[in-house]
Amino acid sequence: MKEKIIIFDTTLRDGEQSPGYSMNTAEKMHLAAQLEKLRVDILEAGFPSSSEGDFQAVQMIAKKIRNIEVAALARTSEKDVDAAWGSIKEAANPRIHLFIATSDIHLKHKLKMDRNQVINKAVEAIKYAKQFTNNIEFSAEDGSRTDRDFLSRIFEAAISAGATTVNLPDTVGYAIPDEFADLITYVKSHTPNIGKAIFSVHCHNDLGLATANTLAGINAGARQVEVTVNGIGERAGNTSLEEVVMSLHTRRNYLPYFSNINTKEIYPSSHLLAMITGTPVQPNKAIVGANAFAHEAGIHQDGVLKNKTTYEIMEPATIGLETNRLVMGKHSGRHAFRNSLKKLGYDLPESDINRLFKKFKELADKRKEIVDEDLEVLVAEEILKVPDTYRLKYLNVISGTATVPTATVQLEIEGKLEQKAGFGVGPVDSTFNTIAKITGTESKLLRFTIDSLTGGTDAQGGVTVRLEEKGVQTIGKGTDPDIIVASAKAYINGLNRLEHLKRKPSLQNNK
Ligand code: KIV
Ligand code: ZN
Repeated sequence: MKEKIIIFDTTLRDGEQSPGYSMNTAEKMHLAAQLEKLRVDILEAGFPSSSEGDFQAVQMIAKKIRNIEVAALARTSEKDVDAAWGSIKEAANPRIHLFIATSDIHLKHKLKMDRNQVINKAVEAIKYAKQFTNNIEFSAEDGSRTDRDFLSRIFEAAISAGATTVNLPDTVGYAIPDEFADLITYVKSHTPNIGKAIFSVHCHNDLGLATANTLAGINAGARQVEVTVNGIGERAGNTSLEEVVMSLHTRRNYLPYFSNINTKEIYPSSHLLAMITGTPVQPNKAIVGANAFAHEAGIHQDGVLKNKTTYEIMEPATIGLETNRLVMGKHSGRHAFRNSLKKLGYDLPESDINRLFKKFKELADKRKEIVDEDLEVLVAEEILKVPDTYRLKYLNVISGTATVPTATVQLEIEGKLEQKAGFGVGPVDSTFNTIAKITGTESKLLRFTIDSLTGGTDAQGGVTVRLEEKGVQTIGKGTDPDIIVASAKAYINGLNRLEHLKRKPSLQNNK
């Protein structure tokens, strides 16, 4: 009999707190809806006591997500438990996730507490949380570097106090698979009431072993795994959801477990996260990287053409990746357009299709072929749509070896045309400086990435920027066959987004 592995997703908590992955509330809501579609069992929505913004984001997610559990993280204090409960009490199935460090290193240098004090604090917080819900998870932070007998003692006390899941984190990514499995076996056999709780593992990837340690944990008896989409998270990241899920799925002949995940939503989830955060997935990332299903070597290509199973252990379609690309053009109709979007994982309502189809036609008039990436950009722009405070009306840039790069820009700002010229060290710099001059904005450009979305010199250039103004961060995206125009569009899109966030504080970033 195969046993179920509970998938606890912490993309919006452990993942979101890492550099490059900060999301505002609106973006978190999009991702949360996708995680529900992916069918994770538990979605950890944030750490409500860390900021007012985080509290509100968790609260909005808890109200919206009805089909899966929503968890909120808390330290072992009444204040944190109150914040966690306050944010998730309206969830269909709320979980409070409590944690305290248990390793001697953390006790001595961080908490300045002894072991008994740590046990008491954990027990008190669990009992306090218990008045709100029976669904309580307890995590022993830095568990993999904790004395194994103490770990067993604190888990026993946590379960007696009411914890229904006990989690063993490899917080600093220090564990080695056999050693981690051995620790779990020991703790399980030395915690008398362990049968009353689900045993969970939470690994970090500092040594590149997060997935291996998680699988070793499952083999040693863990029945919940804590993971993130694309493996994002503190430092080198957390265990990647797609790696664990596809290991269980692909090697089901060897591993007697299953998960509830709808694997066809893996690629759309990975893609949505990259799109929302503006941080691309590394090309050689297992399962979801651009090269994960690409065969370059001649011998491999020859083998795959003869029979896919020679070099392919998974079907791309299993993760929702469509490899038979249908090239679209200006003669393609609405039906083909809707079908192409569906294949990419976007099953959109008719009203969205109508709006997107109009944009598609405009693009098709400019370009010979429209490929999947172009469609993704159209959807991305629609999903991330905000009102246009600033609109680009005109852009002329002079650059080259014998001139000072100069941009002349005309913008429409709330119905009025404004025009200025400015300089910079290159064509993009002069364009951005001029736009900033016209709009009077003072945002900092944190990141600028440019992508050729298709092959050939007439390819669509896709530009993503990440901007920050007064602590509020957002991304901007723009596409155009002309990369300077794409850059200007991305910058203006980012400024519009910042403007939107300024007007709607409830949708701002958390940090
Ligand atoms: O890595 C860690 O220890 C954590 C805990 C809060 C579970 O993220
Ligand atoms: Zn962690």
